[in-house]
Amino acid sequence: MKKIGIGIIGCGVIAPTHAESYALDKNVRLVTACDVIPERAKALAERFGFKGTATDAADVFADPGIDAVSICTPHFNHAKLCEAALAAGKDVLCEKPIANTRAGLALVRKAEAKYPDRIFSGVFQHRYNPVFRELRLLVGEGAFGTIATAAFHNRCLRTDSYYSADSWRGTKRYENGGVLINQAIHYLDIFQWTMGGIDSIAGASMANRTHQNSIETEDTIAATVLFKNGAIGTVETTNSAIIHWDTMLEITGSDGFVSITDGNIVRMEFSNPAAARRMKAAQKAHDARNRKVDGVGRSYYGLGHPSQIADFLSCVRRRGRPFVTASDASVAAELVLDIYQAAARRAKKAPARA
Ligand SMILES: NC(=O)c1ccc[n+]([C@@H]2O[C@H](COP(=O)([O-])OP(=O)(O)OC[C@H]3O[C@@H](n4cnc5c(N)ncnc54)[C@H](O)[C@@H]3O)[C@@H](O)[C@H]2O)c1
Repeated sequence: MKKIGIGIIGCGVIAPTHAESYALDKNVRLVTACDVIPERAKALAERFGFKGTATDAADVFADPGIDAVSICTPHFNHAKLCEAALAAGKDVLCEKPIANTRAGLALVRKAEAKYPDRIFSGVFQHRYNPVFRELRLLVGEGAFGTIATAAFHNRCLRTDSYYSADSWRGTKRYENGGVLINQAIHYLDIFQWTMGGIDSIAGASMANRTHQNSIETEDTIAATVLFKNGAIGTVETTNSAIIHWDTMLEITGSDGFVSITDGNIVRMEFSNPAAARRMKAAQKAHDARNRKVDGVGRSYYGLGHPSQIADFLSCVRRRGRPFVTASDASVAAELVLDIYQAAARRAKKAPARA
């Protein structure tokens, strides 16, 4: 079997998780680690045995020995790098969010459509958790009866030094948001995806509670949303917490209830015992997968990168359709921008009290 040549663009925090996940496939060649900071490219290349390094993504895109690239750079340049990589004939896996503006999201979707023979996928690794996949099916099949509410929270700690370590973080221009666009976007995606889509944002409020010295964006935000299926949803997230990481997703209906923390079921009740059995089986599958890839990436990434990268490589080989396309990956990014807009409208109407 021909080995797939891989380039990684951006060799910061998330890049090793991509490299490790690619390295799980014996028919992959790690060709080039690319970063505008040469020491970072060199460090990744040495750690994972890439053949070479580059400081300009254009050199990676021009290399005929590279079939596919992972875009692991800051938010602001995802869209342009994705478009350039696809135009150069590469298959592309881009970290979330695939773009941080509406124009950028449109650009990536347009590029995906313009190069239909290329594979494009946006990272949302939690969609590969069997628990969330089963949950989505059960919601769609009506196993929860009439769903009254769905809620998610994502509470974590990101310190001033986390933000000051990299100049793009917490800036309007480069990150275009704070906790919602970076940490909470994963669970916002799972929230909307499992529930069958959000119809509208009823209201939102955001604040900078503890990072006034380090960021110009929000560190805390809450929103009320209305789902297409009629349920009411609440979103709450902060990175000003004392705890390092905690996420929770709950769905409450007339025939079913489930509470999931950090991707694992903590409580459930269903009128139909078959639904509970299916959720239990999904949890078992999730546990078994996690035992196999334990240690790849940080635990709060949810161990989903190996599954998403295996899916991406499989699509590259058979020219198939990835599980998370540009349109799929756009939904949560658009919702993030909708929630920011709703919060900004609210702040104009009722400025925060000093
Ligand atoms: N899926 C997840 O769980 C997860 C976790 C962490 C980060 N991320 C995402 O990954 C992306 C990167 O985040 P990070 O924390 O690794 O950031 P980082 O700042 O640690 O790394 C980004 C790297 O990209 C380099 N870079 C910037 N522009 C470049 C360019 N044009 N060409 C080559 N290199 C360039 C920077 O020098 C830096 O080393 C972000 O979109 C982030 O949201 C996803």
